[in-house]
Amino acid sequence: MKDKIQDVLNTVENFTADTVEELESFRIKYMSKKGIIPALFGEFKNVAPEARKEVGMALNELKNKTQEKLNVLRRQLTEKTASGEQQDMDLTLPVNFSRQGTRHPLSVVRRQILDIFARIGFTVSEGPEIEDDWHNFSALNFREEHPARDMQDTFFVDDKDEKIVLRTHTSSVQVRVMEHQQPPIRTVSPGRVFRNEAISARAHCIFHQIEGLYVDHNVSFADLKQTLYYFAREFFGEHTKIRFRPSYFPFTEPSAEMDISCNICGGKGCNICKYTGWVEILGCGMVDPQVLDNCNINSEVYTGFAFGMGIERITMLKYQINDLRLFFENDLRFLDQFHAAY
Ligand code: PHE
Repeated sequence: MKDKIQDVLNTVENFTADTVEELESFRIKYMSKKGIIPALFGEFKNVAPEARKEVGMALNELKNKTQEKLNVLRRQLTEKTASGEQQDMDLTLPVNFSRQGTRHPLSVVRRQILDIFARIGFTVSEGPEIEDDWHNFSALNFREEHPARDMQDTFFVDDKDEKIVLRTHTSSVQVRVMEHQQPPIRTVSPGRVFRNEAISARAHCIFHQIEGLYVDHNVSFADLKQTLYYFAREFFGEHTKIRFRPSYFPFTEPSAEMDISCNICGGKGCNICKYTGWVEILGCGMVDPQVLDNCNINSEVYTGFAFGMGIERITMLKYQINDLRLFFENDLRFLDQFHAAY
């Protein structure tokens, strides 16, 4: 028994390992539950009582020295790897890229739009998504019987009280800004809006808008046109044309809808522009004097223009996305296509 122990001790002491794997098989061979050393401990019960003391000590020494050897070798090997000394590292292997998140396309476009307006002096303002009737409707000249207040379009927060709603447009932020600030006002307001609409490729009950408001002395429709022309060219490209069609909003007079020349077919006609060469991108108009007065801005002294656009719609046009639901599904195959966008 003593000789056996001595033999094992000799092998252990002479052992060297070049790799972590070698060291591990050494550990398994000698120290694991079914390894050589535990087996020797197993044989201890057969040792004659008078030899037990000596054999016991030898066994313990063997076990401790083996453990120590393992520790030393392990330390040496990890130091080697850390200092890059190990020779079998393959530097030609391709790098393992870890997956990186991307900005959501709506965030990308919101930022592009805000940047464009920041360059001509528009600040950014935000307002609450849960609004009262005054800011969402009344201050903006929606009369009591206006169909937009109807349950079909508006989400009411409280069944019994029709005074608190989820805002149906970002025009509510115009009102808040004007109530708190006298002209000159030049601001854009991005945000989520809510309408009780069936979800389809072209509509959703939650979407995003950016509102624009400019109030000062002598602001005219010419200023509105030039500002939006600048925006259209910056955003869709310098060859973009614009046109205005008369429209109606309760809070602007006159009101218009603005189209851009179709950026997909260049105006020749395609299924995106329904072969008209034009696509609608926003609503706009001169702020109705009554709205200025509602917000304590003297309409005898000041005039202003406002516009509002849907971020989803503009993103769909810019990136030729044909289904609005893609923005809300979080499908990585879609989102990953916006890697390069900031
Ligand atoms: N709030 C209008 C809408 O949601 C858009 C708009 C904003 C129109 C500002 C004119 C002026 O449709």
